[in-house]
Amino acid sequence: MRIAVLKETADRERRVALMPDAVKRLAGAGHAVAVERGAGAGAHAGDDDYAAAGATLADDAAAAARDAQVVTKVQRPTPAEAALLPRGAVLVSLLPPAQTAELLPLLAAGGVTALALERVPRITRAQSMDVLSSQATVAGYKAVLLGAGLMPRFLPMLTTAAGNITPAKALVLGAGVAGLQAIATARRLGAVVSAFDVRAAAREQVQSLGAKFVAAELVSPGAETAGGYAREQGADEQQRTLAAIAGAIREMDLVVSTAAIPGRPAPRLITAEMVATMKPGSVIVDVSAETGGNCELTRPGETVHAHGVAILGPLNLPSTVAAHASAMFSRNVLTLLQHLADQDGALRLDLADEITGAMALTHDGQVRS
Ligand code: NAI
Repeated sequence: MRIAVLKETADRERRVALMPDAVKRLAGAGHAVAVERGAGAGAHAGDDDYAAAGATLADDAAAAARDAQVVTKVQRPTPAEAALLPRGAVLVSLLPPAQTAELLPLLAAGGVTALALERVPRITRAQSMDVLSSQATVAGYKAVLLGAGLMPRFLPMLTTAAGNITPAKALVLGAGVAGLQAIATARRLGAVVSAFDVRAAAREQVQSLGAKFVAAELVSPGAETAGGYAREQGADEQQRTLAAIAGAIREMDLVVSTAAIPGRPAPRLITAEMVATMKPGSVIVDVSAETGGNCELTRPGETVHAHGVAILGPLNLPSTVAAHASAMFSRNVLTLLQHLADQDGALRLDLADEITGAMALTHDGQVRS
């Protein structure tokens, strides 16, 4: 296959879709990889590293994409980048439904097959291709560090000659991939951690990480869809959830909220009244800021101070840990590219395949539903 790696052009995006070690694996398997100069700079992978891995360096995106059969990048292409993709090429990138309504018809008209990385099915066979999981892991980790950095208190218990410090209390809302990593990170830093999720399966996972599960009576088998995600709560369930969170949150020093419903605005779990009951100096890190936030006071991309509490709404957390986020993203893309190659290394685009078919948003000049 002829594969092109484009440099990211979006604000705040420091990741790269393929790192040099993945390029080396692809080149070793006989694929030709063209990398746009500077593509890895934000993730500390230099042009020389790519050249040493067997890539050809291209001066710009147009030169990299020319003749490519597969073009990969992290963020969705701009319309100008989409116009560079050769007819018949496969695009592999994030393609969030909320931001691609106008892009997909352009890609379809250009004869591009667009494979959306967020549509990798959550089946065991595709786990190693799952960028949502790998990047959520990064987000959960970094969210705790951001919170810890703003807290006027220690997280761990300390016994010192200057007195004893009790450990901080942290609450994690939403115990999916990001939430579980937030729990593990806060525990490593010494906090006493509680967590809440609506899915029954989350309870055991939370407890296995040494955290306390809040309001276990509120989880139910019906809270989970067939795909393993949470469904939206009804009004009654939501009221009970809010009451449980209100009871727990007032003691907390750090809250990391990660609750999400795929394709829907983030559920509101922290009201302004709850924030007013929190201790001055506590911090809320709202990882769901990009989809509207779990906290009523969150402003995406900003830090809000209210009632003595700092509320962070960070955007694109994985990009702030660009080297390791890229390493994981790149491993996911590498596995997908290996999946797209047949035994002789030629591109095999089989839309009847469970993984490729689920990911394809455009094909044969059409936008697929
Ligand atoms: P997500 O990012 O869609 O949601 C994050 C969390 O928020 C979920 O745990 C969800 O249950 C929770 N949530 C939603 N509404 C809530 C509410 N009102 N209150 C509290 N929590 C709420 O989910 P994520 O992290 O992408 O994964 C969800 C599930 O998929 C997990 O069970 C995970 O283990 C599973 N999964 C399976 C994979 C596979 O089999 N290949 C790969 C990755 C995840």
